[in-house]
Amino acid sequence: MNNKHQSFSALVKSRHSPRDFLSDPLSKKQIETVLHDAQHAPSNCNTQPWVVHIVSGEKKQKLSEILIDKYRKDELTLDFSFDVNEFHGVYAERRFEQGKAYYEALGISRYDEERRTKGFLRNLEFFGAPHVAFMFMPTVGDNVRVASDVGMYAQNFLLSLTAHGYAGIPQTILGFFAQTVRDYLSIPDNYKLLFGISFGYENVDAVSNKIRMGRANIAECVTFHE
Ligand SMILES: Cc1cc2nc3c(=O)[nH]c(=O)nc-3n(C[C@H](O)[C@H](O)[C@H](O)COP(=O)(O)O)c2cc1C
Repeated sequence: MNNKHQSFSALVKSRHSPRDFLSDPLSKKQIETVLHDAQHAPSNCNTQPWVVHIVSGEKKQKLSEILIDKYRKDELTLDFSFDVNEFHGVYAERRFEQGKAYYEALGISRYDEERRTKGFLRNLEFFGAPHVAFMFMPTVGDNVRVASDVGMYAQNFLLSLTAHGYAGIPQTILGFFAQTVRDYLSIPDNYKLLFGISFGYENVDAVSNKIRMGRANIAECVTFHE
């Protein structure tokens, strides 16, 4: 294996989802470097269907307050359904493990609803990150192909953040407030919100950032045919 491959493996494995960020912002130039990397993602017929809105500063702070208010009033406006109860078998097990790892790291018991809600609401505070990138997409057919393109873009974005010493966490939960975000940013209704990515500098001292989620053995996911 040559060095190029080794350093890519190390980069991919060092990327993780922090849930605590420092408030220090990135400069426009730093963010643009990441965006240039992300832009090289492959896409169906090179359509590049990602439509990204980045929110920072006071505008981000105000949005966080609006999202928390909407959550408390149970005013959710998802563009794409997401029911965790639809995960089954091994997928349900992995989902359970992920939630357990987060709340255990914070020292929150399964039965402590108040603190669990507080832990959950950190999502809507963008985990303290100075920036959030909303991943919108045009609607095309049943949207699955376009969503996969946006996923590829998002992974480039996350890996580029990691490579430059920054960090980010994708958040489906931000997509639960699609119409609210559209209204707030004056985005036309035909752009649908898949998820957001909170990003900035990771707070490496935070306990929640010590978590490293495991991965299934490749034999559980891959079949070779010869
Ligand atoms: C599309 C997508 C949406 C996600 N949404 C959330 C979210 O809303 N809140 C959250 O805390 N983590 C979210 N995550 C992070 C996952 O929990 C995390 O990627 C997974 O547990 C693996 O951990 P790692 O990213 O640290 O390797 C999301 C990840 C992806 C790819």
